[in-house]
Order: sequence, then C-alpha cells, then structure tokens
Amino acid sequence: MVKKPAIPRHVGLIMDGNGRWAKKRHKPRNFGHSAGMDAMIKLAAHAKELGVKYFTVYALSTENLKNRPKDELDGLFDLLRKYFSKNIKELYANGAAVKVIGDISPLPEDVKTLLSDGEKNSPKDAEFTLTFAINYGARSEIVRAAERLVAKRLDGVEITEQSFSESLDTAGLPDPDLIIRTGGEIRLSNFLLWQAAYAELYFSPVLFPDFGCDELDKALAEFSMRNRRFGGV
Ligand code: IPE
Ligand code: IPE
Ligand code: MG
Repeated sequence: MVKKPAIPRHVGLIMDGNGRWAKKRHKPRNFGHSAGMDAMIKLAAHAKELGVKYFTVYALSTENLKNRPKDELDGLFDLLRKYFSKNIKELYANGAAVKVIGDISPLPEDVKTLLSDGEKNSPKDAEFTLTFAINYGARSEIVRAAERLVAKRLDGVEITEQSFSESLDTAGLPDPDLIIRTGGEIRLSNFLLWQAAYAELYFSPVLFPDFGCDELDKALAEFSMRNRRFGGV
C-alpha cells in the first residue's frame, strides 16, 4: 500500500531572491517583486489544493522597512494595494481568509485600511488562511506580545508558554510545520522565531519568482520524509 505523504498543516514561506531575479534580467528590483507576487498567488492556490490549511508569507520585514530605498518600498506598497483590492476577491471566492501579522502602524493610511478591511471581510469559517507578514519581525512581535501580556496580567492571566503564544500576532494560528526559504540564503531573517521552535526547515537556491508549484511539491515531498520527534525518541 502506498502511504499518503504527510501534508504540513501550516507552511511558512520566506520569499527571497526577487531583487537578484530582476537584476539578472537588467530590470529594476520592483519588477522582481511584481513577479514574486504572481508566484506567491500561484503557490498559495496550489498549497490550498494540496490540503495545506495555513500559508504564511514573509512579504516585508521590519528591517526591510528601515533599510530599503523609498522607491522600492513604494513599489511594494503598490503591490499590496493591488493584491488587497483585486486579487483578494478570488481568494474569498474560494472560501479562503487573509490575516496580517506585523506592525502595520507606520504604513501609508490607505494601505492600512486595505489590509484591515481584507481581514475583516474574510470568510469566517475559512478552510484556508493566507497570512501576510508585513513590517513583521519576530523580535518586534515578541516585544509587543510581552507588552500585551503585562496588560493581561493585571486581569489575572498567568505568564505561560500558552498565554505568551496567544499574545503573539499569530494568535489563533498553529505553529508552522514547515518553513521554506527561497533565494539561497540559509537563515530565518527574523521570521517566526518563537513559532519555528519545531518547524522543519527547507532551503532552496531557486530565486523566488522562479519558485513554481513543482518546487513547492519538492519541498513537501522532502517534508513527508522528515522524522519529527519533538524531543522524543
Ligand atoms: C525578497 O526579495 C522580498 C523582500 C524582501 C521584499 P529581495 O528583495 O530580498 O531579493 P534579493 O534577496 O535582493 O534578491
Ligand atoms: C527576508 O529577506 C525578508 C523577506 C523575504 C520579506 P531579506 O532579503 O530581507 O533577508 P536578508 O537581509 O538577506 O537576511
Ligand atoms: Mg533578499
């Protein structure tokens, strides 16, 4: 009997390599980000079809917001505007929800409104959640969670691993089972540090715009071969 490969419930994706992909084509970096957005949309649909329930994509780190040139950031905001006003409709039509993690307070007002409307208008009983990490950094998230916990403590909530998890931006999401990073770098770059405690890590040299559904299949095939022990024998 063929054993059905285990499908991760929650996949995290560090979408890296857009800039290098564009550079190879003598195009501006934002050309790469736009191609990356197209790739992400296809991957999310494919993941949903395969039975993944939560798909979390790293779209902009706290460090990116601090350190990238203004025109690149403007291009990224434009892509978010487009996604959250147009593409999101198809996601809803397929019964999927969006969620945003990260500190969106410094973003342009219209982008903030689109992001929070996108969350608010999501179907309630969604079978798939696409989470965008935007101005997200795990350290910032952990500090903000600590602040929330201090407030909750006044209401008698104890500080435990569970109450801490529930104070993170990812409250309500299970921990990621698999984190994929494209673009060749072997690091997490401040992505889901708390939640990744027992995630399987998969690093691909493929630049993100070239990371197609076949590459996701490869990552999932490798995941299904991993032996997850969670500290047991
Ligand atoms: C990742 O691609 C997307 C964002 C950080 C927004 P990069 O922009 O980091 O692409 P490279 O790493 O320079 O190729
Ligand atoms: C990580 O990529 C952030 C995102 C993919 C959004 P970076 O390109 O910013 O990471 P570093 O600088 O190579 O670590
Ligand atoms: Mg990069």
